[in-house]
Amino acid sequence: MQSDDVRNKFIQYYKARKHVAIPSASLVPENDPTTLFTSSGMQPLIPYLLGQTHPSGKRLVDSQKSFRSQDIDEVGDNRHTTFFEMLGNWSLGDYFKKEQLPWIFEFLTKELKLDPKRLYVSVFEGEGAVPKDEESIHIWKKIFKEVGIDAKEGLSLNEGGRIFAYPAKKNWWSRSGEPKNMPPGEPGGPDSEVFFDFGAKGLHEKSPWKNEPCHPNCDCGRFMEIANSVFMQYQKMPDGNLKELAQKNVDFGGGLERMTAAANDNPDVFMSDLFSPLIQVLEEASGRVYGEEPVPTRVMRVLSDHIKAAIMMMVDGVLPSNKGQGYILRRLIRRSLLYGWKLGLIKDLTYIGRLASPVAKIYAGSYPEVTEKIDEIRLLLQEEALRFGKTLERGLAEIEKFPALNGKIAFNLYETFGFPWEMTVEIASEKGQTVDRAQFEEEFNKHKTLSRTAAAGMFKGGLADHGEETTKLHTAHHLLLASLQKLVDPSIKQRGSNITAERLRIDFNFMRKLTPEELTKVEVMVNEKIKENLKVTRIEMARGVAETMGAQREFGQKYPDRVGVYFVNLKEGVDPERATPADYFSAEFCGGPHVSFTGTLGHFTIRKEESAGAGIRRIYGLLSK
Ligand code: ALA
Repeated sequence: MQSDDVRNKFIQYYKARKHVAIPSASLVPENDPTTLFTSSGMQPLIPYLLGQTHPSGKRLVDSQKSFRSQDIDEVGDNRHTTFFEMLGNWSLGDYFKKEQLPWIFEFLTKELKLDPKRLYVSVFEGEGAVPKDEESIHIWKKIFKEVGIDAKEGLSLNEGGRIFAYPAKKNWWSRSGEPKNMPPGEPGGPDSEVFFDFGAKGLHEKSPWKNEPCHPNCDCGRFMEIANSVFMQYQKMPDGNLKELAQKNVDFGGGLERMTAAANDNPDVFMSDLFSPLIQVLEEASGRVYGEEPVPTRVMRVLSDHIKAAIMMMVDGVLPSNKGQGYILRRLIRRSLLYGWKLGLIKDLTYIGRLASPVAKIYAGSYPEVTEKIDEIRLLLQEEALRFGKTLERGLAEIEKFPALNGKIAFNLYETFGFPWEMTVEIASEKGQTVDRAQFEEEFNKHKTLSRTAAAGMFKGGLADHGEETTKLHTAHHLLLASLQKLVDPSIKQRGSNITAERLRIDFNFMRKLTPEELTKVEVMVNEKIKENLKVTRIEMARGVAETMGAQREFGQKYPDRVGVYFVNLKEGVDPERATPADYFSAEFCGGPHVSFTGTLGHFTIRKEESAGAGIRRIYGLLSK
């Protein structure tokens, strides 16, 4: 079965049960400063799980693009990936367990045609004030009985157990895991998972768990979790207790990659159509064969996972950089090149660019924007790969000078060549050596203290001084950023700024040169806003409130707990902490200073637009009387 079929069947199944299909949110979360990437379907829906009304109603279905960097070290086995799609169905205070469990079972057995005998389930065994999930046990018994299976609970696998109760560590879901780790305000709840039995003989015997009895959640590779119904009905309180939410929700998540693997009865997700076109490119480039030997197989899995994840991030506007999301992207690409080296791919790095088209093809039906942007992405990816490829070659040559690696050398490689820690570890293991993490960290901390001292006093928000002309240009800078977002692309974010008494300079993410027409339109809008003589207001608020409200911040910049937000034209009577973009022209995290009314700025002209690095544009602008 093709992955497109699995995704479509899922959406159709729930649409037939009165669910409204909603599009995937971006991989880069909006207004969620707690995390760099969307890592589950529930993340973009949190306000609605907590009670806000969703415009599409109480029953939703989707496939959410997700990225989990915490799984990066697991990538290389048959089922872990950093990027994946999470199929989700949602009850926002509508139906609950007795609808959810039979539906997902029916979907798996009737639509994907999985053999019910090969499905095993888990429930929450209870902890603290939350009791064992007897209701789900009862529902599962009934469901299995209808297909002629006597589903026993409380017995081991060998004794015929089918329903397994696990503690919170395994069967409780929140973004931060079990209840004791949930911060105040966080929603969560017990969950019930479905596992597919691949039954591969001998798998358990080969696994690190061979001395323990196998069970569905034991990670030995025999079972794969393919579905998770979270009964999202609690919220953590500041006093540490869990409170029942006013509405009981269902948050269902099932990995598309894993469901496809189960539907094809092949436990290797990399052999599904979601990865095989990438593996083929790697086989051609390296002359090695996937599946024949352990090392090339693992390497091809890592490479195809990482480059696909990198491309999907870039589709959502992330560009390689040394901060935030851009840094994770850069690490994925660098890590890929290192793995490529293990396949002998070091001199010719064009294979990286050749992985782009297969990704666009895989998602042509579901995410057409990948195809739209793929040519630009291929160039950026190739450029980043080539840049680092040269460094990699030099770094590897440098390593040869040392008889053995140690933490200090590892840190120097990190400093000089940008080799992340895990890359040095990989190189060392290739040579049969180990490196000392403590020594690496010691060097790292020494360096951090030095650079912090050097940076102190250097940061003034990009302003050369606080004189009258600089201040005016600073306000013009805010008008310019808002106009770029409104007229050119709403996903534009500031990446840097520099303002002197003579001119302003802004750097922002954008994939191509702006057209003369776009520049004229932007210039006209800034001048209109100057003529309208709009009021500029500074409001201080908590950083989290400013972020949730949607104030612009410089990407990757660190801000204190309380921040100043400068609004241009904030509507009278609007509570600034709850303002929406319709209530102002511009809102930015900013230390100031600014003019009080825009009318004093004079006439604004864009002098120049140019590239300032991969995917970054730079504009210079002036004010005249
Ligand atoms: N939110 C649940 C998960 O990510 C469904 O597994």
